[in-house]
Amino acid sequence: MELFFCYFFLGFVFLVLLSLQIAFYKHQSLFSFANLPPGRTGWPILGETLEFLSTGWRGHPEKFVFDRMFKYSQECFKTSILGEPVAFVCGPPGNKFLFSNENKFVTTWWPEAVNKVFPTSLQTNSKEESKKMRKLLPQFLKAEALQRYVSIMDTIAQRHFVSEWENKEDVFVFPLAKRYTFWLACRLFLSVDDPNHIARFADPFHLLVSGVISIPVNLPGTPFNKAIKAAEFIRKELRLIINQRKVDLAEKKATTTQDILSHMLTITDENGQNMSEMDIADKILGLLIGGHDTASIVISFIVKYLAELPHVYNAVYEEQMEIAKSKVPGELLTWEDIQKMKYSWNVACEVMRLIPPLQGAFREAMTDFMYAGFTIPKGWKLYWSAYSTHRNPQYFTDPEKFDPSRFDGSGPAPYTYVPFGGGPRMCPGKEYARLEILVFMHNVVKRYRWEKLIPDEKIIADPFPMPAKGLPIRLIPYI
Ligand code: HEM
Repeated sequence: MELFFCYFFLGFVFLVLLSLQIAFYKHQSLFSFANLPPGRTGWPILGETLEFLSTGWRGHPEKFVFDRMFKYSQECFKTSILGEPVAFVCGPPGNKFLFSNENKFVTTWWPEAVNKVFPTSLQTNSKEESKKMRKLLPQFLKAEALQRYVSIMDTIAQRHFVSEWENKEDVFVFPLAKRYTFWLACRLFLSVDDPNHIARFADPFHLLVSGVISIPVNLPGTPFNKAIKAAEFIRKELRLIINQRKVDLAEKKATTTQDILSHMLTITDENGQNMSEMDIADKILGLLIGGHDTASIVISFIVKYLAELPHVYNAVYEEQMEIAKSKVPGELLTWEDIQKMKYSWNVACEVMRLIPPLQGAFREAMTDFMYAGFTIPKGWKLYWSAYSTHRNPQYFTDPEKFDPSRFDGSGPAPYTYVPFGGGPRMCPGKEYARLEILVFMHNVVKRYRWEKLIPDEKIIADPFPMPAKGLPIRLIPYI
């Protein structure tokens, strides 16, 4: 018996060593090309994933990029993240290159974890999924539709402040901002307006978002495992809504144009096929993720900076009160009012320069090509990083200083300011986000001044930046 365990143990050790060796050679072979960009490739499988994620957890996501730009090259360096060889392209030329060569040299790529959490994206490739999404969106995010959203956003913002802020001395801004943007998305994308209904699937969102860009280890308790479970739960909730909508459409209680859900249920592809329920649920999930955390991050950090910089608060307050005073009691904000909020939008832009909600995005090389004198092999991943320009003194003088006037006139030089990306894949929700952020700013400064309860609260990126303790503030109401 003892001999059996001995053999079993030796066999196990042999298999582990063999797997490690295979992983090592596989890792080496990914980097066995001539003239690659300089950089480190890190450990087999893990590469530099932990360094990439941990600089974010420690509150300095820009450090990963800056350290390597400084050590290896200002233009392009290699690394290995999430099991993939990756070339980081840096600075305005890097941004320009990736944004201008979509579907020529590079194409969409999402980490493995994203495909596992959103299984319908495995049915086709992610490039097709991205195209599908882009076809669906314009009707709901075009200027005409957005103009209609302003008054709805204002109504929901007012209800949000009554239910979540009124009669409270202290609040945590980050969770509240998420509730506000989530309420808006549920109302505008799905016509779901009941706060209790929304609350049921709002909480699993955080788990989903933080697990979707994580190491794809599906073991109980890992962020990835939690994300898969959260996605399943939300998908189930969404399918209930989808089924109810099908009934409502059949009974003419809902219209085919009322929101993005009705649209998805009624459009057909070139073969006359409707989208499957699962596909619709995943597309809506993607939209809710895209539009939910990003804007709530911006809102939270606006509140942070307004607390820290009274002169900026005062200028925003003056601009917003000018608009508020021009309205009769009960009159809602309009599209024209939004156009007057120029200084407030400069403040939001400066927040996104210092703390871009999405620090960058991946692409995949469609063919071998040369960039900045280096070879980028077919199949390699590329990454553009907002930090390579946003906090770089070469493009923004005194980059750590909060200065909304950078956005006066024609604003920053091309390809230096990229919180929404650029080129054909630029964020389609940019204008929608502008509206929800400005409507929030209007409503918050009209009601309150505030003080931070943790003066030096840390910012962590997991993978999105957020105030470590949720940004607790003390409210000082005007009335
Ligand atoms: C301040 C808020 C937002 C920021 C900073 C932001 C930023 C970005 C960035 C950087 C990208 C990736 C571009 C790339 O791959 O190079 C992106 C993509 C995307 N965003 Fe946003 N976003 C915001 C709000 C929204 C909103 C409100 C929506 C939906 C209404 C939305 C929907 C999307 C979608 C669907 C994509 C994927 C586009 C594609 O794959 O072609 N985003 N966003």
